Amino acid sequence: MREAVTSLLRRHEPVVTKPAPSTVAAVAPSAQRTADPAHGWVTLGSAGRLVEGRAATFVRPGGGAVSVFLHEGRVHAIDDACTHEDGPLGEGAVHGTCVTCPYHDWQYDFTTGACLTDPTRPLATWEVRVREGQIELGAQRTTGTLSRGGDHNDGMETLIR
Ligand code: FES
Repeated sequence: MREAVTSLLRRHEPVVTKPAPSTVAAVAPSAQRTADPAHGWVTLGSAGRLVEGRAATFVRPGGGAVSVFLHEGRVHAIDDACTHEDGPLGEGAVHGTCVTCPYHDWQYDFTTGACLTDPTRPLATWEVRVREGQIELGAQRTTGTLSRGGDHNDGMETLIR
Protein backbone atom coordinates (compact mmCIF):
# COMPACT_ATOMS: atom_id res chain seq x y z
CA MET A 1 0.00 0.00 0.00
CA ARG A 2 2.77 2.41 0.99
CA GLU A 3 4.58 1.73 -2.31
CA ALA A 4 1.39 2.37 -4.27
CA VAL A 5 0.88 5.74 -2.54
CA THR A 6 4.51 6.70 -3.10
CA SER A 7 4.20 5.74 -6.75
CA LEU A 8 1.03 7.81 -7.10
CA LEU A 9 2.68 10.82 -5.47
CA ARG A 10 5.69 10.53 -7.77
CA ARG A 11 3.42 10.58 -10.80
CA HIS A 12 1.95 13.89 -9.65
CA GLU A 13 5.24 15.61 -8.92
CA PRO A 14 5.81 18.54 -11.24
CA VAL A 15 8.12 17.74 -14.10
CA VAL A 16 10.96 20.24 -14.16
CA THR A 17 12.48 20.60 -17.56
CA LYS A 18 15.63 22.46 -18.38
CA PRO A 19 14.93 25.57 -20.42
CA ALA A 20 15.98 25.32 -24.03
CA PRO A 21 19.24 27.06 -24.76
CA SER A 22 18.63 30.57 -25.93
CA THR A 23 18.97 31.21 -29.62
CA VAL A 24 19.40 34.92 -29.01
CA ALA A 25 22.81 36.03 -30.08
CA ALA A 26 24.66 37.33 -27.08
CA VAL A 27 25.77 40.73 -28.23
CA ALA A 28 26.93 42.86 -25.35
CA PRO A 29 25.79 46.46 -25.79
CA SER A 30 29.42 47.55 -25.80
CA ALA A 31 30.08 45.19 -28.71
CA GLN A 32 27.32 46.71 -30.80
CA ARG A 33 28.82 49.39 -32.92
CA THR A 34 27.05 52.19 -34.62
CA ALA A 35 27.40 51.42 -38.30
CA ASP A 36 26.16 54.77 -39.52
CA PRO A 37 26.06 57.34 -36.72
CA ALA A 38 24.41 59.96 -38.90
CA HIS A 39 21.32 57.79 -39.34
CA GLY A 40 21.45 55.67 -36.21
CA TRP A 41 22.13 52.32 -37.86
CA VAL A 42 23.49 49.76 -35.41
CA THR A 43 25.24 46.53 -36.36
CA LEU A 44 23.52 43.43 -34.97
CA GLY A 45 25.72 40.69 -36.39
CA SER A 46 26.72 38.70 -39.43
CA ALA A 47 24.32 38.41 -42.33
CA GLY A 48 25.48 34.81 -42.53
CA ARG A 49 22.95 34.07 -39.81
CA LEU A 50 20.07 34.93 -42.13
CA VAL A 51 18.39 31.87 -43.60
CA GLU A 52 15.08 31.98 -45.44
CA GLY A 53 12.34 30.31 -43.38
CA ARG A 54 13.99 30.87 -40.02
CA ALA A 55 14.53 33.85 -37.72
CA ALA A 56 17.82 35.19 -36.44
CA THR A 57 17.38 36.80 -33.03
CA PHE A 58 19.59 39.50 -31.56
CA VAL A 59 19.73 41.59 -28.42
CA ARG A 60 18.25 44.97 -29.33
CA PRO A 61 20.01 48.17 -28.39
CA GLY A 62 17.75 49.82 -25.85
CA GLY A 63 16.44 46.54 -24.45
CA GLY A 64 14.60 43.44 -25.49
CA ALA A 65 15.33 41.35 -28.53
CA VAL A 66 14.64 41.66 -32.22
CA SER A 67 14.00 38.85 -34.69
CA VAL A 68 15.25 39.32 -38.22
CA PHE A 69 13.84 37.42 -41.19
CA LEU A 70 15.04 37.00 -44.76
CA HIS A 71 12.25 36.64 -47.30
CA GLU A 72 12.63 36.82 -51.08
CA GLY A 73 15.83 38.82 -50.80
CA ARG A 74 14.49 41.37 -48.32
CA VAL A 75 15.12 41.56 -44.58
CA HIS A 76 12.53 42.39 -41.94
CA ALA A 77 12.87 43.06 -38.20
CA ILE A 78 10.18 42.63 -35.55
CA ASP A 79 10.05 42.64 -31.78
CA ASP A 80 10.92 39.12 -30.63
CA ALA A 81 8.31 39.19 -27.82
CA CYS A 82 4.90 37.81 -28.76
CA THR A 83 2.11 40.20 -27.78
CA HIS A 84 0.18 37.35 -26.17
CA GLU A 85 2.53 36.39 -23.33
CA ASP A 86 6.00 37.40 -24.57
CA GLY A 87 6.82 34.08 -26.24
CA PRO A 88 10.07 34.03 -28.26
CA LEU A 89 8.95 34.58 -31.86
CA GLY A 90 12.46 33.96 -33.11
CA GLU A 91 11.94 30.32 -32.19
CA GLY A 92 8.63 30.11 -34.03
CA ALA A 93 7.82 28.26 -37.23
CA VAL A 94 7.99 30.34 -40.40
CA HIS A 95 5.72 29.85 -43.42
CA GLY A 96 5.95 32.50 -46.12
CA THR A 97 5.81 35.83 -44.27
CA CYS A 98 4.05 34.34 -41.26
CA VAL A 99 5.76 33.41 -37.98
CA THR A 100 3.89 31.30 -35.43
CA CYS A 101 4.68 31.75 -31.74
CA PRO A 102 6.01 28.50 -30.26
CA TYR A 103 4.00 28.98 -27.05
CA HIS A 104 0.31 29.18 -28.07
CA ASP A 105 0.38 29.57 -31.86
CA TRP A 106 -0.44 33.25 -32.26
CA GLN A 107 0.61 34.32 -35.74
CA TYR A 108 2.24 37.45 -37.16
CA ASP A 109 3.18 38.85 -40.54
CA PHE A 110 6.85 39.70 -40.04
CA THR A 111 6.85 42.14 -42.99
CA THR A 112 4.36 44.46 -41.24
CA GLY A 113 4.25 43.39 -37.58
CA ALA A 114 0.51 42.69 -37.93
CA CYS A 115 -0.89 40.12 -35.53
CA LEU A 116 -3.06 37.72 -37.55
CA THR A 117 -4.57 36.17 -34.42
CA ASP A 118 -5.65 39.43 -32.77
CA PRO A 119 -5.39 42.44 -35.10
CA THR A 120 -5.41 44.81 -32.10
CA ARG A 121 -2.05 43.40 -30.93
CA PRO A 122 0.64 44.33 -33.50
CA LEU A 123 4.39 44.01 -32.98
CA ALA A 124 6.91 46.83 -33.24
CA THR A 125 9.02 46.77 -36.41
CA TRP A 126 12.36 48.36 -37.31
CA GLU A 127 14.21 49.44 -40.41
CA VAL A 128 16.81 46.77 -41.15
CA ARG A 129 19.36 46.25 -43.90
CA VAL A 130 22.40 44.20 -44.84
CA ARG A 131 25.58 46.11 -45.58
CA GLU A 132 29.07 44.73 -46.05
CA GLY A 133 27.97 41.35 -44.72
CA GLN A 134 26.46 42.77 -41.54
CA ILE A 135 22.85 43.11 -40.42
CA GLU A 136 22.16 46.70 -39.41
CA LEU A 137 19.16 47.87 -37.42
CA GLY A 138 17.81 51.36 -38.02
CA ALA A 139 14.94 53.43 -36.70
CA GLN A 140 11.77 51.94 -35.31
CA ARG A 141 9.25 51.79 -38.14
CA THR A 142 6.01 50.94 -36.33
CA THR A 143 4.96 50.82 -32.70
CA GLY A 144 3.74 47.59 -31.19
CA THR A 145 1.21 47.16 -28.44
CA LEU A 146 2.28 46.83 -24.82
CA SER A 147 -0.88 44.86 -24.00
CA ARG A 148 -0.43 41.25 -23.03
CA GLY A 149 -2.77 38.34 -22.30
CA GLY A 150 -5.72 36.97 -24.23
CA ASP A 151 -7.20 33.74 -25.49
CA HIS A 152 -5.20 30.57 -25.79
CA ASN A 153 -6.00 28.05 -28.50
CA ASP A 154 -7.33 25.78 -25.75
CA GLY A 155 -10.14 28.24 -24.98
CA MET A 156 -8.58 29.39 -21.71
CA GLU A 157 -7.87 33.09 -21.21
CA THR A 158 -5.08 34.73 -19.26
CA LEU A 159 -5.96 37.32 -16.65
CA ILE A 160 -3.22 39.75 -17.69
CA ARG A 161 -4.76 42.87 -19.26
S1 FES B 1 3.05 33.68 -25.85
FE1 FES B 1 2.89 33.70 -27.99
S2 FES B 1 1.02 32.74 -28.39
FE2 FES B 1 1.13 32.78 -26.23
